Amino acid sequence: MGRQYYIAANWKMNMLKGESVELAQGLVKALKDGKNKYMIAPSFTSLDAVAQVIKGSNILLGAQNMCTEEKGAYTGEVSVHMLKDLGVQVVILGHSERRHIYGEDNEMINKKVKLALAEGLEVDLCIGETLEEREAGKADAVCEEQTRKGLAGVSKADMAKVTLAYEPVWAIGTGKTATPEDAQAVHAAVRKVIADMYDQATADAVIIQYGGSMKPANCQELLNQKDIDGGLIGGAGLKVETFEPICKTY
Ligand code: PGA
Repeated sequence: MGRQYYIAANWKMNMLKGESVELAQGLVKALKDGKNKYMIAPSFTSLDAVAQVIKGSNILLGAQNMCTEEKGAYTGEVSVHMLKDLGVQVVILGHSERRHIYGEDNEMINKKVKLALAEGLEVDLCIGETLEEREAGKADAVCEEQTRKGLAGVSKADMAKVTLAYEPVWAIGTGKTATPEDAQAVHAAVRKVIADMYDQATADAVIIQYGGSMKPANCQELLNQKDIDGGLIGGAGLKVETFEPICKTY
């Protein structure tokens, strides 16, 4: 395949600081011999504490979101500089919960993507269709639009710092997983979009994670698919016992 597996955990709005530190400590131990790329994204309030725990380990520190603006009167927001100040290396952008609960659109997400990259962060850009869109036969089209608009203006060089995460909205936190074949079909379609926007080498190199009820019991058949290069894990990322096996499947 040539691409490295990349397994990431999005802790969402779970765990207080003490619990986050405990989980991070467990993961540092569990993954220290792991061969893949790993990232954990705690809540903003646990970032600083978790940063101290994973410093020097093979786990990257991720944030779950950031503001479109660099500083100023944006009550309740967190800037790219604040994230970097805490040692954050990756930011998850465009997660479906940001899109659907908080109304983030492709333009806003694109602004965040460009700012994060300009400031040297890696980006994990989430895309994915709703159930309604899938049933209307629009899964590929929605993912194409989110990819093109999310990455508008991103240079080929900066694509080395971009990971995509295909997360069908209907599979997130629901226990429903896309079949490996359905997921593979979207991953292949998205890779084609990247080839069209950039070139084949960029498309071949870009990591595309799957997300949506991925767990130890189903991760292997998903990761076996040609264009599935890793996972963005929610629920199963909240315990060492469920995250470690996914990280170590390959
Ligand atoms: P889930 O969440 O694994 O709990 O379905 C995935 C995600 O939202 O990243």
